[in-house]
Amino acid sequence: MKNIRNFCIIAHIDHGKSTLADRLLDFTGSVTDREKQDQLLDNMDLERERGITIKSHAIQMEYMHNGEQYILNLIDTPGHVDFSYEVSRSIAACEGALLIVDAAQSIQAQTISNLYLALENDLEIIPVLNKVDLPSANPEEVTDDIVDLLGCDPSEVIHASGKTGFGVENILSAIIERVPAPSGNPDEPLQALIFDSVYNPFRGVETYFRVINGKIRKGQNIKFIATGKTYFADEVGTLKLKQQPKQVINTGDVGYLITGIKEAKEVKVGDTITDAKEPTKNAIEGFENVKPMVFAGIYPVDTEDYEDLRASMEKLQLNDASLVFAPESSAALGFGFRCGFLGMLHLEIIQERLEREFDMTVITTVPNVSYHAFTNKNPDEIIIVNNPTDLPEPSTLNRVEEPYIKATIITKADFVGPVMSLCIEKRGVITNQTYLTPERVELSFDMPLAEIVFDFYDRLKTVSKGYASFDYSPIGMRASKLVRVDILLNAQQVDALSALIHADNAYTIGKKMCEKLKELIPRQQFDIPIQAAIGAKIISRETVKALRKDVTAKCYGGDISRKRKLLEKQKKGKKRMRQVGNVEIPQQAFMAVLKLN
Ligand code: GTP
Repeated sequence: MKNIRNFCIIAHIDHGKSTLADRLLDFTGSVTDREKQDQLLDNMDLERERGITIKSHAIQMEYMHNGEQYILNLIDTPGHVDFSYEVSRSIAACEGALLIVDAAQSIQAQTISNLYLALENDLEIIPVLNKVDLPSANPEEVTDDIVDLLGCDPSEVIHASGKTGFGVENILSAIIERVPAPSGNPDEPLQALIFDSVYNPFRGVETYFRVINGKIRKGQNIKFIATGKTYFADEVGTLKLKQQPKQVINTGDVGYLITGIKEAKEVKVGDTITDAKEPTKNAIEGFENVKPMVFAGIYPVDTEDYEDLRASMEKLQLNDASLVFAPESSAALGFGFRCGFLGMLHLEIIQERLEREFDMTVITTVPNVSYHAFTNKNPDEIIIVNNPTDLPEPSTLNRVEEPYIKATIITKADFVGPVMSLCIEKRGVITNQTYLTPERVELSFDMPLAEIVFDFYDRLKTVSKGYASFDYSPIGMRASKLVRVDILLNAQQVDALSALIHADNAYTIGKKMCEKLKELIPRQQFDIPIQAAIGAKIISRETVKALRKDVTAKCYGGDISRKRKLLEKQKKGKKRMRQVGNVEIPQQAFMAVLKLN
């Protein structure tokens, strides 16, 4: 146990976490040349393409230091706010953290929020000034920033480059010398923290854990405390680049467990593994059931594909426990599913995976957060509103509550004005303003989640010319004034276009939605009125004018193969169109409310 070190790497997005992790693996000889691939830890295709770490993973390295052999367990953490709970559990499995700061970008919002998580868990922090090879690097200033933030000595900040490998040896020495060895008791009943799980279609769900007390053996009967289920440990082992089966994983170490579990949702990150016969009395603190934050309808483009879509969603859920869905139907779109996501990135990932892995083309409706509504009849009973159609009639409505977050934004002093205006426009209330340095300001706001899940981040980047970073955490439900804005096309209400909007913004947004839909809906042989309404009251109107002449007349072709090509092309173009009544609506229209600015 005294030669084990468990650590994670925390950083703001793009500060070089994955690249540096690769260098550590190279340097400790944990990877052979043949196995080498850029950014090894990000092993999902989607992750690699997007250049972000979606799921956390772990890897074990061995390293000789002053004549002694050490085991270094690196626990990778996801780099996006949608997955912050997973970050917190990975951090809880470690004794130390490398805090990576880009030498050109300096400290950003996620650097700070991750640092707070690490400090709450009493982790030893090793500051690393990364990318010192960059011509735009500003090592002196950024070191000062780090020293101010941590209250450490400048000599504790390790200068490094994930690109050239500079400083990697110093980092490894610091991990061994500064991060404390694990301190559990091998004789107590088993108590292990689940910090991640990965779905393997052949072997079932692989559970990644850190043993806090006791040991876990192959063949042991074990129990997951939060779910209450018991299993037989078919296989345990350590996580090298490939899994290495072992007879036992000891106190303080990190490993994987295979029990034949077939569904990801049985393995909950943050849950405690214990012995089935001699269970520990204490579950490890900090367990939470992850709650979806954003809801949207997902419908097949072709109504006949409904059953295929269901099968695909079920398969996706096997390996993504945070995806939830339930059947729903829409007058406009037919049968589909109301799905819950951790955030907008998660929504995009699911949509993309449905397309790539299951060849399903889907229509996604306007996303919304989850509201609580109360009726006059039963003012104490919470009605959960995940769908615009669930909002009770305005006349019966007592009150509505919506989820709020604490937003942390770090920006340059020059942009404080525009950032504040944006946050106020988004119904934010400033709670704190701190100058980290004369040029860099940290702003805190209480804001409705609904205002930030959609276009907030893009707007923030624009108003700050890219010099703002952003992070948030939920702070509970607060009173809200909510209305449902309906859209009528050709006098017919299209339920899938309804959106839940704060009353103060309803008129502006209703008007903008009509304007946007006018741009998006193709002209047809007749005029198409587009109206926005709250209840029976029309609040805005636009018209898509009828085509003046028959454009298809131009499309004659002498050559039959050309004609076919044209037809194929049309079919493809149609793919994301939906016929509602006699109006064709393209997919973008369903998401139009998100892109009004
Ligand atoms: P997330 O996984 O999204 O959180 O990003 P990350 O922090 O893992 O960053 P990643 O390692 O993917 O690096 C981000 C970008 O910075 C990539 O384009 C890297 O090639 C580049 N990069 C990383 N380290 C260095 C470095 O030391 N020097 C230079 N010049 N570029 C680097």
